[in-house]
Amino acid sequence: MIRMPQPLTVVILAAGLGTRMKSRKAKVLHRAGGKALVEHVVETALALTSRERIFVVVGHQADEVRKAVSTPGIGFIEQAEQKGTGHAVMVGRGVLEPMGGYLMILYGDSPLLRVATLQRLIHTVTDSGAAGVLMTAEMSDPTGYGRVLRDSHGHVESVVEQKVATPEQLGIREANMGIYCYRADLFWEHVGQIRPNNPACEYYLTDMAEILHRAGHPVDAMRIDDEREALGINTRVELAEVDRVLRDRKLRELMLGGVTIEKPETVTIDADVRIGIDTVVSPFVQILGKTTIGENCRIGACSILKDSELEDDVLIEPFTVVGTSKVEKWSQVGPFARLRMENHVEEGAHIGNFVELKKTRLGAKSKANHLAYLGDSTIGARVNVGAGTITCNYDGFAKHQTRIGEGAFVGSNSTLVAPIEIGEGAYLGAGSVITEPVPPDALAIGRSRQVNKAEWARKRRALHKK
Ligand code: UD1
Ligand code: MG
Repeated sequence: MIRMPQPLTVVILAAGLGTRMKSRKAKVLHRAGGKALVEHVVETALALTSRERIFVVVGHQADEVRKAVSTPGIGFIEQAEQKGTGHAVMVGRGVLEPMGGYLMILYGDSPLLRVATLQRLIHTVTDSGAAGVLMTAEMSDPTGYGRVLRDSHGHVESVVEQKVATPEQLGIREANMGIYCYRADLFWEHVGQIRPNNPACEYYLTDMAEILHRAGHPVDAMRIDDEREALGINTRVELAEVDRVLRDRKLRELMLGGVTIEKPETVTIDADVRIGIDTVVSPFVQILGKTTIGENCRIGACSILKDSELEDDVLIEPFTVVGTSKVEKWSQVGPFARLRMENHVEEGAHIGNFVELKKTRLGAKSKANHLAYLGDSTIGARVNVGAGTITCNYDGFAKHQTRIGEGAFVGSNSTLVAPIEIGEGAYLGAGSVITEPVPPDALAIGRSRQVNKAEWARKRRALHKK
């Protein structure tokens, strides 16, 4: 948060539908960089001021937009009918005006804005003593943007929207980015003068510059070098561009922080992911949600990790899928393994190919190396789970628990019909169907006995020759 002579209030306009998205979903709910667009902007605002001074103007799908803002304590202003950017701020007058200080206006569909740029905007207004500052950029093609007209002192005289600009004004390349910081007292004193006197019959926030200028309160413009930072998303093409920029930023931040990312152009990492130093991320990996990864791990190619926690020195082999699970240090998972949900793999455990775990705790140094389904299970330390082991956790109505004690040996192709308990140190014969509890250190064999019929095969062959 930055220190200011007077407090800062941030209003985020997010009431519009975004027709050009061609979507049933409000524009700010679309996701880029792993988060809803509006969430990015709220997070940026949180770096500038306290949460009780941040307000989101909602209209289209107001309830969904409220839900998408996960930070508690953010204020919402309802704009039932969208009558323009000026109107969007005016409907919040009751709560916003008493806040005093400075008023910053951001758009919910501009997630690339950097905190440092907005700090510069704030300093520009506080240092200059101007009534307000607009963020502008010199664009080679400013089509669609409002054009900035300056007076002989360089102050902003007015902003002319594309639709009403004269051919001469359309030649101006300084474009309004739609991001402002105003002195709240002057803003509220004059905002009532905005009139819907344009072809769209909307209340344009851009009129504030002219109104204040006319009243003798200078408004300044602050140029940014790269207008893409203020890019407001209108179409899905721009959504993809912004997604790429956000993801590149995240990858850079991780790489500069000590994480090796191979072929970063193929890797997808969400904004809230944290990764420790010397971890290596292989090509085509996706690390999503609130995943945290420790130091010195390796994430194999094409693996997908979501909302999970990996401690240090974990090896995830290629093509592994991990969801809402915890993996302790020195463990190995994969290739082709699936930790579906809510699993806890303890220190030094090994999970191999085509093994699925669901709501299962696998004890330290235990191994399930090939072809198994372990669901709703608690498995002790140093257990060997043979290839083809299946926990039958579902009886068609309810899920049941399997417990396997420390040091047990589960023979290959065992079928464990839950609820069931296997004692510590017990052995299960390969191919057993286990329906009764097995005491500690016992051997359980649950299969029919083998019968050898002497000469049977030879007789059959002879029969066929006739
Ligand atoms: C606006 C500016 C224009 C600037 C451009 C930069 C005005 C009149 N024009 O135009 O000078 O160059 O941004 O991108 O302000 N919104 C509401 N309620 C409303 C209307 C809009 O919440 O009633 C929200 C929208 O959801 C959107 C933002 O405000 O996030 C901007 O509105 P939009 O209609 O896109 O303005 P532009 O035409 O782009
Ligand atoms: Mg726009």
